[in-house]
Amino acid sequence: MATVKRIAVLTSGGDSPGMNAAVRAVARSAISKGMEAVGVMRGFEGLLDGDFRTLGARDVGGIIHRGGTILQTARSNRFLEPQWQDRAAGNLLEAGVGALAVIGGGGSFQGAMELQKRGLAVAGIPGTIDNDIAGTDLSIGFRTAVETALDAVMRLRDTASSHDRLFIVEVMGGRSGFLALDVAVAGGAEAVIVPEVQFSLGRLIDRLHEARRKGKTHSLVILAEGVMPAQGLRDRIQDTAGYDARVTVLGHIQRGGSPCAVDIILASRMGSAAVEALASGRGGFMTALQENRIELLDLSLSWETRKYLDPEMMRLVEVLGV
Ligand code: F6P
Repeated sequence: MATVKRIAVLTSGGDSPGMNAAVRAVARSAISKGMEAVGVMRGFEGLLDGDFRTLGARDVGGIIHRGGTILQTARSNRFLEPQWQDRAAGNLLEAGVGALAVIGGGGSFQGAMELQKRGLAVAGIPGTIDNDIAGTDLSIGFRTAVETALDAVMRLRDTASSHDRLFIVEVMGGRSGFLALDVAVAGGAEAVIVPEVQFSLGRLIDRLHEARRKGKTHSLVILAEGVMPAQGLRDRIQDTAGYDARVTVLGHIQRGGSPCAVDIILASRMGSAAVEALASGRGGFMTALQENRIELLDLSLSWETRKYLDPEMMRLVEVLGV
C-alpha cells in the first residue's frame, strides 16, 4: 500500500511550454500507482485559498500539446510570510494530501521547501524558459522558447539583409543569459550580451566594425533582458558609432505556444520520476536532467548554487559570428 494517498500538483511563477505535459504526467503516474491526484489552482495562491480540484485521468486529457498551464499560475506575495505558509500546509494536510509536486523555477522551490518543513513531502520539477536552475541541464519550456525566439530571429535576418541593417533583439531570461546564448548561436548572431559577462560598449562596437570590414552588410545582436533595455542599447550604439539600428523586444511571445517534443518528453519523465519518489515517502528533492538521465537532487541546490553559462558556447558566438 502506498504511503501517500493523495498527491497535489501546482504550477508557479512564469508559465512555460510543457507545464501541462508535466501536470498530466504527475496526475496519471499517481493514478497508476493507486493514488489520487489533486490540482492546485493559481500556484501558491490556490494553496492559501484551498482552491483544489481532483484530477482524474480524463481531466488531464488533451493537454499534452497545449502551452500555458491549465492549473494557471501566479507569483504569491502572501506565501512569503510564515503564517500563510502554515495556512498552506494546513490546507493540504486537511485535504488528505501528503505530497506536493511544484512545477516552476528556483523561487518556487524555495517556497516549496517551507511546506517540506511543515510535514509535506515536496518535489520540485524545473519549469522555466530561463533554464537557470542549477543541477539540471534543462528545465521544461526552455527548448521551446529557444525555438520560438529563433523563429522570430530568422524572420528578422531576412529584413536585416534586405536593408543592410543592424538589429538588436531582446530576449527574456530573467537575470541569466541561457536563452540569449542559445538563440545567438542558433541564429548566427554577431554578438550576444548576457548578464554573466561584463558589458563593454567599446568592444561591441569594435566587433560590429570588424564585421563590416569583413564584408558583412547586416548584423544581429542578441541582448538578454537582464542587462539593459534594448532601446537604451540602440541609442548608445547610434550615438557612439552612427549605426541606424532597429530594435525588437520578443517579450511574452517566448512563453507561449505548443511545447516541442524535447519539452514534452522532459516533462513526462520528470513528472513520473517525481511521483515515483514521492510515493515512496521521499521529499525535499528536485528532478534534474543530467547526461540524459533523470536524477533527484536536494531542492536547496536550486537556490544555493548558481548555474554557469558554458564558455564554449560564448566562444562559438565570437568565432562563428564574424
Ligand atoms: O522567469 C520567466 C520569465 O519569463 C522571465 O524570463 C521574465 O523576466 C519574467 O518571467 C517575466 O515575468 P512576468 O510574466 O511577471 O512579466
